[in-house]
Amino acid sequence: MEITKICCIGAGYVGGPTMAVIAQKCPHIQVTVVDLNEERILAWNDKNTNNIPIYEPGLDTIVAEARGRNLFFSTEVDKAIDEAQIIFISVNTPTKTYGKGKGMAADLKYIELCARQIARVAKSDKIVVEKSTLPVRTAEAIKSILDSTGNGVQFQILSNPEFLAEGTAVQDLLNPDRILIGGDTTEEGQKAIQALVDVYSNWVSSEKILMTNVWSSELSKLTANAFLAQRISSINAMSELCEKTGADVNEVAKAIGMDSRIGAKFLKASVGFGGSCFQKDILNLVYIAKSYGLNEVADYWEQVIIMNDHQKRRFSNNIVQTLYNTVADKKITFLGWAFKKDTNDTRESAAIYVANDLINEHANIAVYDPKVSRKKILSDLDYLETRTSEENGKSIFTFGDPYLSCEKAHAIAVLTEWDEFVHYDWQKIYDGMQKPAFVFDGRNILNKTELEDIGFVYQAIGS
Ligand code: NAI
Repeated sequence: MEITKICCIGAGYVGGPTMAVIAQKCPHIQVTVVDLNEERILAWNDKNTNNIPIYEPGLDTIVAEARGRNLFFSTEVDKAIDEAQIIFISVNTPTKTYGKGKGMAADLKYIELCARQIARVAKSDKIVVEKSTLPVRTAEAIKSILDSTGNGVQFQILSNPEFLAEGTAVQDLLNPDRILIGGDTTEEGQKAIQALVDVYSNWVSSEKILMTNVWSSELSKLTANAFLAQRISSINAMSELCEKTGADVNEVAKAIGMDSRIGAKFLKASVGFGGSCFQKDILNLVYIAKSYGLNEVADYWEQVIIMNDHQKRRFSNNIVQTLYNTVADKKITFLGWAFKKDTNDTRESAAIYVANDLINEHANIAVYDPKVSRKKILSDLDYLETRTSEENGKSIFTFGDPYLSCEKAHAIAVLTEWDEFVHYDWQKIYDGMQKPAFVFDGRNILNKTELEDIGFVYQAIGS
């Protein structure tokens, strides 16, 4: 089957960039990205591609090239489903906040709604692709909903998890380590897999396209995120031991990273990982393991989260302790609010939790982030429901200028590793601060010697 029309439900951090790259690389395929969120679709269609809702280096150029040619953003979900041969489901799958599995299981209500909508609308055979990260065996549930209409329309369900990392999404999509496609072993299943392989083959070489059964594919994505997060928690655990023993975690990371069995990537100690995926996917894995009675497996992976929470908490505790056991009415400046550099995504960012702890101690938090708005910062804090929005509003001060944000501050905390922070005029910042001037580098990006020579009291993670 030659694919000429694709639709993607969900115009978020995955759906938007992924479909933009497919459209750019496959000019013969019409790609329509749909979402219920009108504001988001409006922003994707903004004439000025600087205003698209997701910041990713290089994405604006790709959208500018393909949009209106073979890339479309729309709220007309039914129409797009009806016309497409392949439908990607790329909606959010957050941790459940209610009922059975609250705080652990993935909330599949958005996925189920998509499946029901596809079942209702589809009049011709469709390939439905799980792009969202889903618990293993979700395809079974989707299939049962799709097949329930009895109208003779045939559906093939594929699992095609997305491995892009925010901040490098465009590069990851253009040059992926691998594309994973899981499908049925039946003849129809294999045909569906081939149709999707043909799409990716427009720019990805065949040895990087991996085909598995659906369950392996679904579980591989959870496994990949669990392993990645585990590396961060492992090095963070060592960072605390380094601080007690006089070892330096950067030196330890370098030494172990040169072992080719370990590898050098993802060994950077920090205030803790954030992002929408790691925590939710591990919790989901823990929940699945428990649901099969595999308590040791569940406990093993849960430690990754426990360690991460500890790392965030100990960062805020250390700030309070170092500032003579009180931060009440003191100005603490946060450089960075996004969960990592080169993204405007703040979901589960360590900054949110550290700010929350410090506001509990009556600190005033000044924030400068090059890509995150005040509105977003406040809504992140409100989401924790620790205090009223009004109280949060009174404790958070946001700045469009980093130097102003640091003026008269008692301390600076680096929460995101934005490159620009490294190149600031730190002498100028020092001159404007209260003394002693403290810097808590939660990302280990600043130059210790330079800062100490200026006069800062500088503390990094793990040294
Ligand atoms: P997102 O929250 O940015 O986007 C999801 C979008 O789906 C939202 O705009 C929402 O309005 C829309 N939506 C929800 N239900 C809908 C419906 N019934 N019809 C139409 N639109 C609907 O989420 P994000 O970050 O793009 O994640 C999507 C999935 O991809 C998740 O399962 C996530 O785990 C996975 N993933 C995320 C990665 C990331 O870096 N953010 C990386 C790899 C996978």
